[in-house]
Amino acid sequence: MAENLIIDNGNKAEKYATLLPQIAALIDHDADLIANMANIAACLKMTFDFWWVGFYRVKDGELVLAPFQGPLACTRIKRGRGVCGTAWDRSETIVVEDVEQFPGHIACSSASKSEIVVPVFKGDEVVAVLDIDSDRLATFDATDREWLEKIASLLYAEME
Ligand code: SME
Repeated sequence: MAENLIIDNGNKAEKYATLLPQIAALIDHDADLIANMANIAACLKMTFDFWWVGFYRVKDGELVLAPFQGPLACTRIKRGRGVCGTAWDRSETIVVEDVEQFPGHIACSSASKSEIVVPVFKGDEVVAVLDIDSDRLATFDATDREWLEKIASLLYAEME
């Protein structure tokens, strides 16, 4: 059962605190959005071994799959649909402890048990979302929200 335990919060916060300046430095050195998204997804996957980490970009009124790490995923999500489309619509982070309890959750993989979706803002506008799926229940909490929002905010803070 040990592998089903939720990651210790202190440990998790320390990992994020180490990771954040590393990602900030990566973004400083490469001003291409797709390249930056790809490296952020890779850093998060390597650090936490999440089941799926990636981005969807707002394109032509939909979310379209962008760089990710993990199994293949659906390519388009409409506004207000699923966790991603809802986070976009509400312009706020959504933490889902059990995806089966989230009405309209889009199951790209049956292994996904919990999820966090963080909007990426360019000014006041949501232009993408950062989506992370876990194969365990209740993986994400306020610590993930806090740090992932900081990571997501780096993308455009550094590029404008
Ligand atoms: N579960 C998401 C869809 C994207 S995949 O998890 C990669 C959702 O409900 O929006």
